[in-house]
Amino acid sequence: MVLKTPDELAVMDRANALVHETLRLVAEAAGPGVSTRELDHLAEEHILTGGGVPAFKGYRGYPATLCTSVNDVIVHGIPSAEHKLRDGDVLGLDCGVVLDGFVGDAAITVPVGEISPAAKRLLEVTRECLELAVDVTRPGRRLTDIGAVIQKHAEAAGFSVVRELVGHGIGRSMHEDPQVYNFGPSGRGPELRPGLVLAIEPMVNAGVSGVNFDDDGWTARTEDGKLSAHFEYSVAVTKNGPWVLGVGGT
Ligand code: MF3
Ligand code: CO
Repeated sequence: MVLKTPDELAVMDRANALVHETLRLVAEAAGPGVSTRELDHLAEEHILTGGGVPAFKGYRGYPATLCTSVNDVIVHGIPSAEHKLRDGDVLGLDCGVVLDGFVGDAAITVPVGEISPAAKRLLEVTRECLELAVDVTRPGRRLTDIGAVIQKHAEAAGFSVVRELVGHGIGRSMHEDPQVYNFGPSGRGPELRPGLVLAIEPMVNAGVSGVNFDDDGWTARTEDGKLSAHFEYSVAVTKNGPWVLGVGGT
């Protein structure tokens, strides 16, 4: 695990600020009739204008700036000119940026037009899972406390958490140790220490937890075709508690 200095955390804060700015811009542009490819272009231009480089594009051959994961797609949906959004869709947007040598990574899930009450509830609970996880990302807590609070909250709401995909340490590389599970017992693994940065990313399914991958090798879907939601923050552990990078707090 690579611990970051305060100066390095400041750079990572800026990288994530550009990620969040991009996500907001894209979320505003998303609507019925808009293709996920158009959203990808918007994101890429905004990142380049902001002095960053898209972190996902070219990563293990991934072809785009964003992941656009619609409805039963859990994560890693590939933007496409043919895929036009429709009223009632649930749209996951995941974005990564390299800025001054460090990677920022965050994701949100947003409604397209009017979505069902059940879909709204899924988005709300998944966001709450992330907030609860952030709250235990502090010195004195152990790594698996994160997954434990996520699983508990998701399952209490009648949803399930994905097992096959995980969060991760982040820094000069997008994926650093440790892996951050979204499930499991609390109180295990290393103690969280100041300078550690974790990309925490609960993926919560309305139905079963199982995952199928499309033939493109990326697109991860729910086994039962039901909805899934995903939120992600890059979070630094500091002596004063969690610092959600890029959102304007300290
Ligand atoms: N947030 C995702 C992750 O950490 C996004 C990666 S998409 C990829 O794995 F294409 F770059 F792999
Ligand atoms: Co990530």
